[in-house]
Amino acid sequence: MISRQTIDTIFSSARVEEVIGDFVSLKRAGGNLKGLSPFADEKTPSFMVSPAKQIWKDFSTGKGGNVVTFLMEHEQFTYPEALRWLAKKYNIEIEEDREQTDEQKEELKQRESLYIISEFAKKYFIEQLNETEEGQNIGLSYFKERGFTKQIIDKFELGYSPAKRNAFTETAEKKGYGKSILEASGLSIYKENEFGIDRFRERVMFPIHSFSGRILGFGGRILRNDVKAAKYLNSPESEIYHKSKILYGIFQSKQAILKQNECLLVEGYTDVISLHQSGIENVVSSSGTALTPDQIRLIKRLTPNVTILYDGDAAGIKASFRGIDLILEQELNVKVLLFPEGEDPDSFAQKHSLEEIQKYIEENASDFIQFKAKVLLEDAKDSPVKKAELIRDIIHSISLIPNVIQRELYIQETSKLMDVREEVLFKELGQNLQRKQKEAKEKRESQPPPAMELVKENMVTINPRAIVEEEIIRLIMQFGDLVVELKDDSGETYETTVIEEILHQFQENDLKLTNETYQSILEDVKLGFEEEELRTGDFFVKLFEGGGKTEIASEALMEKYSISENWKNKLNIHIKPKEENISKDITDTILRYKTFFLEDVIKEYSEILKGEDISGEVRNEQLEKIMILSDMRAKIFRALNRVI
Ligand code: CTP
Ligand code: MN
Repeated sequence: MISRQTIDTIFSSARVEEVIGDFVSLKRAGGNLKGLSPFADEKTPSFMVSPAKQIWKDFSTGKGGNVVTFLMEHEQFTYPEALRWLAKKYNIEIEEDREQTDEQKEELKQRESLYIISEFAKKYFIEQLNETEEGQNIGLSYFKERGFTKQIIDKFELGYSPAKRNAFTETAEKKGYGKSILEASGLSIYKENEFGIDRFRERVMFPIHSFSGRILGFGGRILRNDVKAAKYLNSPESEIYHKSKILYGIFQSKQAILKQNECLLVEGYTDVISLHQSGIENVVSSSGTALTPDQIRLIKRLTPNVTILYDGDAAGIKASFRGIDLILEQELNVKVLLFPEGEDPDSFAQKHSLEEIQKYIEENASDFIQFKAKVLLEDAKDSPVKKAELIRDIIHSISLIPNVIQRELYIQETSKLMDVREEVLFKELGQNLQRKQKEAKEKRESQPPPAMELVKENMVTINPRAIVEEEIIRLIMQFGDLVVELKDDSGETYETTVIEEILHQFQENDLKLTNETYQSILEDVKLGFEEEELRTGDFFVKLFEGGGKTEIASEALMEKYSISENWKNKLNIHIKPKEENISKDITDTILRYKTFFLEDVIKEYSEILKGEDISGEVRNEQLEKIMILSDMRAKIFRALNRVI
C-alpha cells in the first residue's frame, strides 16, 4: 500500500551505515565499516558495512543484505514495518497507493490517528509522573517503593494518570484531538450529553508497545487499596489494540530473546520490568491470560525455545496445560519453572542477584511433559479412572512433539512415572500419530513440494526440480537485467538479457514453474517485460505486501553479495556468483529444467504402453516417441556434461 514512489524515495534516502550505526557501533576499516556482530556474541568484529554498495554482511552468522533487510533481521520487522521506520527516520512522507478504496483509506486514517493519540497519551502520562507534584508524590514514590529505578521507569516509559476526572481528556481536547478518536482509543469515556472523562484515573500507567515500538494501548494499576476497582485496568479493544495479539515487553526484549535464543514467559507487567532491571532481558508477558496462537507466532519469529515462569501459588497451572499443548503443536520447545511458594518473578527478582536468578532458572526449569505428568499424577493417585484419563492426556501432549527420539524418551519416562508398560503407551501414541499424519497428509496434498521435503523423521530428501526452480528465480533476481552472450542450437552466438532468455525459453517450450509463488514472479516479470521494464530483485524487494516475493528477492540479493554457502550446502550444486559464469548458468539451468518436462512426457507415454489392449500400431508409435524423447534427454545430459 506504500506507493512505489515512496519506496524508491526511502531506498534512495536511507543510508545503510547511518541506520546500522543506530544499533551497532561501527569503526572505519578501509572503505568499509566494521563492528561487533549484533546477531552473535563475539569478541573480534566480523560485522561489515559497505557504504559504497549500501549493503552489510555479518560473517559470524552469514546474514547480510541491504538497509531494509537489516531492520528486518535486527528488529524483526516485517517489510512494511521496516519501510515505515525508515520513512520516520528520514522525514519522508508516506504516500499510499491510489488503488485503495475509500473504506481502506478511512481505516488507515483511523489507525494512524489511534497511534498518534496513544503516543500523545504516553508522553502525557510520563510528564505527569515526572514533572508534577501529584505524579511524583503518588506515582513515582509508588514505583520507588516497588524498587524500580529511574532508568527502568524510563526504559518502559512508565507514567501516571492524575486523580482529576478529566485531566487527560481536557488536555487532549485543548490540543485539538476530537471526541471520536479519544473515544475510539478508549482513553476517554463520553456518556450521553456529558463531557468526556478519563478512563485511567489515579493509576500508574504501563504503555503497551508493539513489536516495532509503537504504543498500542495501556495498562493502569490502581494505587489505593481502599477502593473496590480492579487492580489493573487495560485499554479496551480497538483497531490497534488486540489483547490476544500482544505480548507485553516484546519491544524491549526482542533483541535479547533473539540473541539468547530463548524466551521467558511471565504473567504480569511487573514481572517483565523487574527481571529486566535485574539484567534478564529475554522476557515477555501475556498479561495474565493463556497464550494465544497469535502470541505464539510472535515468539516464534524470534526463537523456538520458551520457558514459562509460574507464580508460587500454582492455582492457574492446570488451567494452563491446554494452552501449553498449543505451544507444543507449534513446534516450540517448552520448559516450565515454578517459583517458591508466595513468590512471583517480580518479587523473586527484587530479592536476588542476577547470578542467583540465572542459577535458579537453570536448575529448576523442567521439561513441560514431565512437569505436567507430575502435577496431574498428584491428583489421580488413587483413582484408576482418573489415571487412565491422565495417561491419555499426557500421550496426547507427547504426540504433538515433532521429534521421534524425544517422543520415545518421553514414553520411557512416562512409563516409569505412571507405572504403565511402554507398549500400552506406544499403542496409544500410535493412534494419536495416525490421526495426526492423516491430517498432515490432507494438508500436504493441496500444496506443491518444497525444495527439501521431510519425508521421514530426520531424513531429508531433496526435490531436484524445486531446486532448479529456485535457481531460475535467483537468476532473475540477481542478474535479470544483465546482458549475456549465448549460443543457439546451430552454434551462433547472440546477445540477450537474462530475463529475455528465460521468458523466451519458457514461452517456446511451454514451460511452467510448479511453485506457485515462483510462477507468479515469472508472470510479473513477463508483465514488466511487455511494458519494457526488466523486473529484477530490486523491483521485487520493494514490493509492498509481495506475498512472499519480497523475501525471496531479498534472500537472492543478499546472496549476490555474499559467498554462497547456501548453495554449496544444497545438493552440492556449486554456483559461482561471478557474473562471467551467468551465461553458462542460464543455459544449464534451463536445460536441466527441460529434462523434468521430458521425463514427465516419457512417463506419460510409458503408461500408455502398459495398457493391455492397445494395438501393435499404437505401441510402435509410442515406442518411437519415447525413443525420440529419450534421445533428446540424452543430448541434454551430454550438454550438461553428465552421465545418465
Ligand atoms: N491483570 C489484569 N487485570 C487484573 C489483574 C491482572 O489485566 N485485574 C493482568 C496484568 O497484566 C497483570 C497480570 O495480569 O500484570 C498478572 O496479574 P497479577 O499477578 O495479579 O499482577 P502483578 O503483575 O503481580 O501485579 P502487582 O505485582 O502490581 O500486584
Ligand atoms: Mn506481583
